[in-house]
Amino acid sequence: MISKNKETFTITAALPYANGPIHIGHLSGVYIPADIYARYKRLTNNDVAFICGSDEHGVAISLASKKASVSPKELIDKYDKIIKSSFQEFGILFDNYSRTSKKIHHETSLKLFEDLKEKNLFSLIKSEQFFDVEENQFLADRYIVGTCPCGKFDEAYGDQCEKCGATLSPDELIEPRSAISNSTPILKQTKHYFIKLNEFEEFIRNWITVENKDKWKTNVVGQVKSWLDNGLKPRAVTRDLDWGIPVKVDNEDGKVLYVWFEAPIGYISSTIEWAKKNNKDWEKYWKNPDTNLIHFIGKDNIVFHCIIFPIMLKMFGNFILPKNVPANEFLNLEGNKISTSRNWAVWLHEYLIDFPDMQDVLRYVLISTCPETKDNDFTWKDFQARNNSELVAIYGNFANRVLSLIKKYYDGKIPKVKSRNRVDDLVLEDVKVLKEEIESYLDSFKFREATKNLMNIARIGNKYLAETEPWKIKESDPLRVEQILHTSFIIISYLAIVSEPFLPFTSVKLKNMIGLNDYSWDDLDKIFGTINYNFTIVDIEILFKRIEDSEIEYQIDKLKKSAS
Ligand code: MF3
Repeated sequence: MISKNKETFTITAALPYANGPIHIGHLSGVYIPADIYARYKRLTNNDVAFICGSDEHGVAISLASKKASVSPKELIDKYDKIIKSSFQEFGILFDNYSRTSKKIHHETSLKLFEDLKEKNLFSLIKSEQFFDVEENQFLADRYIVGTCPCGKFDEAYGDQCEKCGATLSPDELIEPRSAISNSTPILKQTKHYFIKLNEFEEFIRNWITVENKDKWKTNVVGQVKSWLDNGLKPRAVTRDLDWGIPVKVDNEDGKVLYVWFEAPIGYISSTIEWAKKNNKDWEKYWKNPDTNLIHFIGKDNIVFHCIIFPIMLKMFGNFILPKNVPANEFLNLEGNKISTSRNWAVWLHEYLIDFPDMQDVLRYVLISTCPETKDNDFTWKDFQARNNSELVAIYGNFANRVLSLIKKYYDGKIPKVKSRNRVDDLVLEDVKVLKEEIESYLDSFKFREATKNLMNIARIGNKYLAETEPWKIKESDPLRVEQILHTSFIIISYLAIVSEPFLPFTSVKLKNMIGLNDYSWDDLDKIFGTINYNFTIVDIEILFKRIEDSEIEYQIDKLKKSAS
């Protein structure tokens, strides 16, 4: 086997707004794919920095804090904690999880902003902006709502329509109104720095539609193309707000950096924070042209990660551009759009109360239904079916049968064999091919296919056992039974290791049961020579348990009752 060169990966997952807890849509579209990818790259011995943090500025935060009648600081402290612990509980293993309210982030953002200002890369523009007279404040971004020119949504924000995905400027909204007082705003003059996106149109067009066209997902390239076709316009990178990173604009106070200017810099400042803690050189992860920078995001963030942030990185100078931005579409819930305001969601902290220790079940279902190419639907019935007929009936059943037989026949010691027969070689060859396919699916961000293959390893194992029926020939052909269980043990070893990125909790349990704790992905290639025959299988834990109809009915009922 040709060993692949080990590479450096800077893997980022969209910084979640610290204005609410995390639900299944976030996990399925962004954090589980990102975590699977990061775990896989670590397990195959690459140098990985998996970076995230809470996004704690911007109007999304101030509006939520107003609504909850608490200060923005109280709000972000509360949700940063909840979000961080949800990620931990579900095994999303970041190398660093930072916060954009930290000093390191303010300093990093200001330094990069000042650099661009000094290099004369902004234009200072006087313009008229919406102002709420009742509240005596300018209305930026989400502070202003109205009908999108697409005509399909009358709750579009001043910077984005969540229905059609377009980025907007407030003056494009039809019948604009203040999101705070609901009054009709007036226009008032103000000054801001603008980034000249228009000057980078050709650069982006060439980079995305020529260089990356065949490597990137078609939904991503398609969205970028349509923005380019509409023409890029200069965009303000400062705002008249009192919550954010304060800056002076032409010596005037009362301004902050635009959240979409500084939040992506959060990836950089979080990396710097991590590098400092671990005595590493952060620049290797952002400036070395051989490093693979990969952004995991949802489709509503495409414009920021494929157009605006790359332009910023180019303007900073010496920074690398993302190698790929495998953005996903949206996950719906029981046929309807997930909505925080209508409470139509499955919240992670609530899930664990009803399904304790069943993180891997949710991980499995969410990656199996990941909205990779189009929006997809999560239903509780499907959740139950995938648990009962895949995780329990195939994966858990195979592991349990093999380990119980080894325990019963050989007191838990793996049988040594001198030879295998053709059927054994064929099944092991199939398993090896499945593992290699999983690698290439993961390398091309096809997480659903990769997950199907993982289950196929267990499926093949079950079929092998059903066909060879070792329990029927234990007395008549003990040598053959040893071969069968030896082969089955190898299949279980593949399953245990290859599961790690997908089902990390199960993988640990299985590895403990079979004594493979120190194995890494590449070790599977030499498994035959490295089986520990001294190990004894003692405790056999049931990996997955059936979910009853009543539990599912309860969830559906709860969802309907709590939604408004
Ligand atoms: N907070 C944003 C959202 O939830 C994502 C920010 S991603 C970053 O949509 F690049 F800005 F960090």
